[in-house]
Amino acid sequence: MNTAISPTAYNYKVVRQFAIMTVIWGILGMGLGVFIASQLVWPELNLGLEWTTFGRLRPLHTNLVIFAFGGCALFGTSYYVVQRTCQTRLISDTLASFTFWGWQAVIVGAIITLPLGYTTTKEYAELEWPLAILLAIVWVVYGIVFFGTITRRKTKHIYVGNWFYGAFIVVTAMLHIVNHASLPVSFFKSYSAYAGATDAMIQWWYGHNAVGFFLTTGFLGMMYYFVPKQAERPIYSYRLSIVHFWALITLYIWAGPHHLHYTALPDWAQSLGMAMSIILLAPSWGGMINGMMTLSGAWHKLRTDPILRFLVVSLAFYGMSTFEGPMMAIKTVNALSHYTDWTIGHVHAGALGWVAMISIGAMYHMIPKIYGQKQMYSTRLINVHFWLATIGTVLYIASMWVNGITQGLMWRAINDDGTLTYSFVEALQASHPGFIVRALGGAIFASGMLFMAYNVFRTVRASNPVEADAASKIAVVGAH
Ligand code: HEM
Ligand code: HEM
Repeated sequence: MNTAISPTAYNYKVVRQFAIMTVIWGILGMGLGVFIASQLVWPELNLGLEWTTFGRLRPLHTNLVIFAFGGCALFGTSYYVVQRTCQTRLISDTLASFTFWGWQAVIVGAIITLPLGYTTTKEYAELEWPLAILLAIVWVVYGIVFFGTITRRKTKHIYVGNWFYGAFIVVTAMLHIVNHASLPVSFFKSYSAYAGATDAMIQWWYGHNAVGFFLTTGFLGMMYYFVPKQAERPIYSYRLSIVHFWALITLYIWAGPHHLHYTALPDWAQSLGMAMSIILLAPSWGGMINGMMTLSGAWHKLRTDPILRFLVVSLAFYGMSTFEGPMMAIKTVNALSHYTDWTIGHVHAGALGWVAMISIGAMYHMIPKIYGQKQMYSTRLINVHFWLATIGTVLYIASMWVNGITQGLMWRAINDDGTLTYSFVEALQASHPGFIVRALGGAIFASGMLFMAYNVFRTVRASNPVEADAASKIAVVGAH
């Protein structure tokens, strides 16, 4: 075996910081999700205050779960993976530390400004221009740290996980900067540089690719490292992973118009978005199969290893949501699903089932390693968490399917004389049981995060980070 000893230990400090914040933001973001889900059951929970209404807390939920929880998981794991697969330390501790503190500052800014009502009104791009600029700076520095580390690598090739992380970094920067082009009129108010249908198209080019590159490509980078590691098997097909990468990034960028079916967007653009979305099923499933098949010969490990279960079930949900998405992109299906809870169910099949579960699995694998421990404090608690997460996700998405199809059918039902059969309120009343089940499912999922927090706390308390850093000096051998 090719043994290359590195003179310096890896920078695990920044990885530890991001890992801990992943758990903390996860609890807060999902807790807020449960709160807004409860507001839809019991509207009194809006508390009669403008700052705590559903309309203001909903974007805070999405910002906390996507950018705070998901973002910290991506920063942390990408810094871990890039160092280990390139067998070198991050190029700059100072810049890495800047990305950590800068990212937390953006999140704290979101927590303050969104409830106060400062928003661009663009979904997933709500933060006003001063925060958007800070975010852009942090992101560019992230790119410098990540790609700079790759240029210093001691290995010949660039491991495929890094390709996915790299694409996620480059495309997110591009989306954020283009979609945020705006004219500030005061410190907390700006107007978009685009108007009308163009503004809508740019927004959903951004929105869809935020899903495609932030919530998918980055997490696929995580999948390509942590699934083989936890299964102790090489990735099923290296060739498929290359085809998967190029096909995914080539196709995703065209699919945005499926968010704008039956709008003022030109019809050809809508049809193009639909066609590209259907084709997108192929690379999505190619990646899912590559991950799943990595377990060939190691399936028995699922019986005893709840971390592997998290990773594999996340891939199953990934497969499910990337089957559902292309179907919902078909215009006639979208005519029923759009505006209904079906979309919300689809979102959380991806968000809870895929994004959250793969992140949780990756954290359980990584946290003992960066804290110099053999394993997490309690495997039993990981197992409890796994079941809470799975049951919570299933309750969430099943209730939203029922609600979504009920709403879609009730809204379009018409009497012989052409009048509507049901009023909007009747459809809302029919949705009430589903809202209760969703809040319950969400609460079950979020409670699992508390078990995780306790397990992480006990692991960290028993740890010795200095030893972990020292051990990483000699762990730098040919095999990563
Ligand atoms: C305990 C877990 C969670 C609960 C209870 C929850 C609940 C909710 C609720 C009630 C909404 C608003 C739905 C509506 O407007 O009708 C929502 C929206 C959303 N949530 Fe969650 N959520 C949870 C976890 C997550 C996670 C982990 C993510 C992402 C990683 C996520 C991403 C989103 C997104 C993107 C939306 C906006 C969907 C859209 O506009 O179509 N959620 N969530
Ligand atoms: C092949 C893959 C996928 C395709 C073609 C796809 C397609 C779609 C479609 C057609 C919609 C409904 C648009 C509307 O009616 O407004 C949608 C919404 C959404 N999807 Fe997917 N989806 C895919 C995978 C995923 C995954 C894996 C996730 C999450 C990790 C995800 C997250 C979302 C979100 C957050 C929305 C709601 C956007 C909004 O209106 O706020 N999608 N997707």
